[in-house]
Amino acid sequence: MKFEGHYHGWFDNILWSTAPGENAAGPAEAPVKVAGSVGQETAPDLDVLGWNDLERLEARLARGDIAAVIMEPAMCNQGAIAPTPGYLEGVAEACRRHKALLIFDDVITGFRLGREGAQKWFCVTPDLSIFAKAIANGFPFAAIVGRANLLDMFVTGGVLHGGTFNGQPVAMAAMVATQNALTPELYQGWSQRGLRLRDGLRNILRDAGLKAQVTGFELMFHVGFGLDAPARNYRDLLRCDKAL
Ligand SMILES: Cc1ncc(COP(=O)(O)O)c(C=O)c1O
Repeated sequence: MKFEGHYHGWFDNILWSTAPGENAAGPAEAPVKVAGSVGQETAPDLDVLGWNDLERLEARLARGDIAAVIMEPAMCNQGAIAPTPGYLEGVAEACRRHKALLIFDDVITGFRLGREGAQKWFCVTPDLSIFAKAIANGFPFAAIVGRANLLDMFVTGGVLHGGTFNGQPVAMAAMVATQNALTPELYQGWSQRGLRLRDGLRNILRDAGLKAQVTGFELMFHVGFGLDAPARNYRDLLRCDKAL
């Protein structure tokens, strides 16, 4: 299961509903899976839901056939949308109750929300998290982290995770150097500047009489022109005035 407006790789279920148009996306209560690339025909094992909607996720999980839920913990692949209070906690609890794994796609949010990723920022621990991008300061490096009994499956459980660049020494060195460089003091300075920039932009837009929502986090935010209220999900974001 994945969420509209998010970008995930999942075996043959890659790139569904990454940025569907409003008509193609179908109604909010029953989103339509939209192929993100030519060559994708069906994804029978994949369902797409609207993000920030605990009720519909609960209802879908209750059917008892979901193995895993993968989602950005804050929606930053499109916009910069925070989870509504209680949403992530509710998702984690519903996944536990219905025996589905919860996987956070921390590829964008990791090391931008903060040093320890979304789980520390939001105090919600998923079963697995995926990191890339900032983890090695732009070097080609990605990581899957999570519960030991799941990660052990790559070693003893017969789960294949091979690849040309797995353990690539230059990328590994870049990741270690990046991680050693990321100090709490750096984050403090970035946060202060990020907030100042975000608030300054908000004031400038207001003074210029431009309707816009400046939303997001200290190190990562988004300007949604033309919105009356902060976007809560991908469908809200579609109402942005992109031309402006
Ligand atoms: C939210 C999100 N998840 C996953 C990915 C894919 O990561 P990678 O390019 O490392 O496969 C991207 C974009 O690259 C992304 O924006």
